[in-house]
Amino acid sequence: MDLATLREFEAEARARLDPAHYDYFAGGAGDEVTVRANEAAFGRLGLLPRVLRGVTKLQTGITLLGSRAAMPVLIAPTAFHRLADPEGERATARAAAAAETIMIVSMAATVAIEDVAAAAPEAELWFQLYIQPDQAFTGKLVRRAAAAGCKALVVTVDSPALGRRERDLRNGFHDLPGHLCCENLRDGARGGRVRPVVMAPELSWEHLDRLRDMTSLPIVLKGITHPADARLALDHGAAAIMVSNHGGRQLDTVPATIDLLPDIVAAVGGAVPVLLDGGVRRGTDVLKALALGAAAVAVGRPVLWGLAAGGERGVGRVLGLLRAEVEHALTLCGCASIHDLDPGMVRRSC
Ligand code: FNR
Ligand code: LAC
Repeated sequence: MDLATLREFEAEARARLDPAHYDYFAGGAGDEVTVRANEAAFGRLGLLPRVLRGVTKLQTGITLLGSRAAMPVLIAPTAFHRLADPEGERATARAAAAAETIMIVSMAATVAIEDVAAAAPEAELWFQLYIQPDQAFTGKLVRRAAAAGCKALVVTVDSPALGRRERDLRNGFHDLPGHLCCENLRDGARGGRVRPVVMAPELSWEHLDRLRDMTSLPIVLKGITHPADARLALDHGAAAIMVSNHGGRQLDTVPATIDLLPDIVAAVGGAVPVLLDGGVRRGTDVLKALALGAAAVAVGRPVLWGLAAGGERGVGRVLGLLRAEVEHALTLCGCASIHDLDPGMVRRSC
C-alpha cells in the first residue's frame, strides 16, 4: 500500500466503501460548516520554526492518565468499525498496539469491549461512554470496560440528541446491516437483546457526579467547547478535557476546535490535560495543537479510512504516516521534544 498521505487514504476508502457507509463516516450535521471548519482552521495557522537548535534525538512519547503512548496522536472513538473491515475494532486495536498509541473504543463498537481487549492484549484502551438514562445499565457498562482493562472513561457530553446528518437521511442510512450490532449494548453478556444507544437530553452535571461515584477510573470529558464548561468540568472532577465538536457531526456551526483550544487551555490553567480532536490530518496540525497547549490530539475519520483501505495494515500505515510527519515537522521546527513547542511558534498566516 503506497498511499502517501491521509487524504489519499480517504480517496482509497471512498472507492472501496458502500457509498452510504462512506457518507456516514465522512459526513456531519446540517450544512457541514463545522466539518469543513475543523480542517480549514489548521490551514490558516502557520508554524514559525526555530533554527540551529541541535535537534538529534526526538522525544514524542507522552503519558496520559497513567497510559503511555509513543506519539501524541490517539485514536478517537468512532462507531461501527465493522462497516469498514470485517475484523472491525479488533483490527484497529491491533494497529494501535503496534503503533504504541491509545485507542478510545466507542461504546457503539461492533465488537464487544472484551473481544477488542482480547484481540490486542498489548493495546492501551480507553472506553468511550454515552451515559445511559438507565443508571444500572451504565454501571454495568463501566464495570465491563474496567474489567476488560480500559484505563479511562471518555464521557461524551456533546450529544443530548443525535446531530441531524442529512447525508444519512438522504441515503436512508439509519441501521447497521443485520449481521452487525453494537455489541456493548447487549443486555446479557452474550446473545442478549441489543439496546439502542440513548442520547439523553436530560443529562446534567449530577449524572456525571453519580458516574464518578461509580468508578475509580479517571474520567475524560469529551465535547467541551465553552470555557465555562471547562471550569465546571474541573469542579466536577474531570481528569482531562477533550476539546471536540464531534467532528462536526452534532451541532453545526460550532467553531473549529483548534480555534477554541487557546481559551479552554487558559480556563483550565494546567489543572488537567487538555486534548483535542477534529480535522487533524497532518503532522503539522499535531504540532500546532500541541504548541497551543494540547497534551495530545486524536484522529477519528483518518483511522476509518485506513481501516477501509487496508484493515489493520491500513490503520498502521495511517498512524505511521502521522508519526513520521510529526517527527519530520519537529525536526524542521528545531524542537527535539514535543515539550519544546510553545504558542509563540504559531501565527495566524492568512
Ligand atoms: C464519531 N465520533 C464519535 N464520538 C464519540 O464520542 N462516540 C462515537 O461513537 C463516535 N462515533 C463516530 C463515528 C464516526 C463515523 C465519526 C466520523 C466520528 C466523533 C469522534 O470521536 C471525533 O470527535 C471526530 O471524529 C474527530 O474529528 P475527525 O478526526 O474525524 O476530523
Ligand atoms: C456518531 C455517533 C455514534 O457520531 O457518535 O455517529
